Amino acid sequence: MTTMSEGAFDAVAELFERVSGIRLAPAKKALVEGRLQRLAQDAGQTSLDRYVEHLLHEAGEAELTKVVDKLTTNETYFFREPQHFEFLTQQLRTQPPRGAFRVWSAASSSGEEAYSIAMLLADVLGSRPWEVVGTDLSTAMVEAGQRALYPMERARHTPHDYLKRFCLRGEGRYQGQLLIQRSLRERVHFRGANLMQDLPADLGQFDVIFLRNVLIYFDAPAKAAITRRVLRQLQPHGHLLTGHAESLANLDLPIRALQPAVYVPA
Ligand SMILES: C[S@@+](CC[C@H](N)C(=O)[O-])C[C@H]1O[C@@H](n2cnc3c(N)ncnc32)[C@H](O)[C@@H]1O
Repeated sequence: MTTMSEGAFDAVAELFERVSGIRLAPAKKALVEGRLQRLAQDAGQTSLDRYVEHLLHEAGEAELTKVVDKLTTNETYFFREPQHFEFLTQQLRTQPPRGAFRVWSAASSSGEEAYSIAMLLADVLGSRPWEVVGTDLSTAMVEAGQRALYPMERARHTPHDYLKRFCLRGEGRYQGQLLIQRSLRERVHFRGANLMQDLPADLGQFDVIFLRNVLIYFDAPAKAAITRRVLRQLQPHGHLLTGHAESLANLDLPIRALQPAVYVPA
């Protein structure tokens, strides 16, 4: 059970695009085959083509969620793209927030970005009111964020002092892993949200939005639509941070660049 027909690939690509908005290029066929092998076996299907038939005509929402979870690219780690964390520290020090400070990690994957932000806020703002919200399309990723248990190597760019203050080192069967401290976990909330659809009505407004390393998967019209939708959740004085490899140029958005990958409402 190693390959799938072009027709089956097209059907999976269409299904995935309908849910996530992400178009899988034909060059991704081998990757899709690899990622769906195990699901096909678990579903008792004898070939990938048969599994796709099952997905299209018999399987329910739960199986579709598993496929979406498998096909999303979730790579992330703590303190990725450190310029943004330096920017945030600088902002908080020069313009201390008056009320509760809210930050949104808008494609949070397994939660490392949200917890990196939380460590920084706990350090700079301490017990003053702040909150981090992490959202992702993938249910498996939302659950990983809530679990807050990570392989130690994902934290290799975490300041040593933060590791000591905010993480618990795993022992016994948790050897090689770290758990985020409860005091931090209590101020970071994960939930599902699809950036291609209406966002949860009670998401609220944010002072800073991290929209990083997700726009790369979308074409220009989808990128613009997502960014506009996300900007509705940004305070007028807020900042939008995107991945340094992503460009918002030529999308005709109501923002202006403050520095690379940092935007403010225009
Ligand atoms: C590469 S990770 C980025 C994680 C983190 N922001 C970072 O920069 O390290 C991309 C994430 O985007 C999520 N994603 C993809 N399409 C999405 C959509 N339509 N709505 C919400 N999240 C989506 C994926 O599930 C994945 O976890």
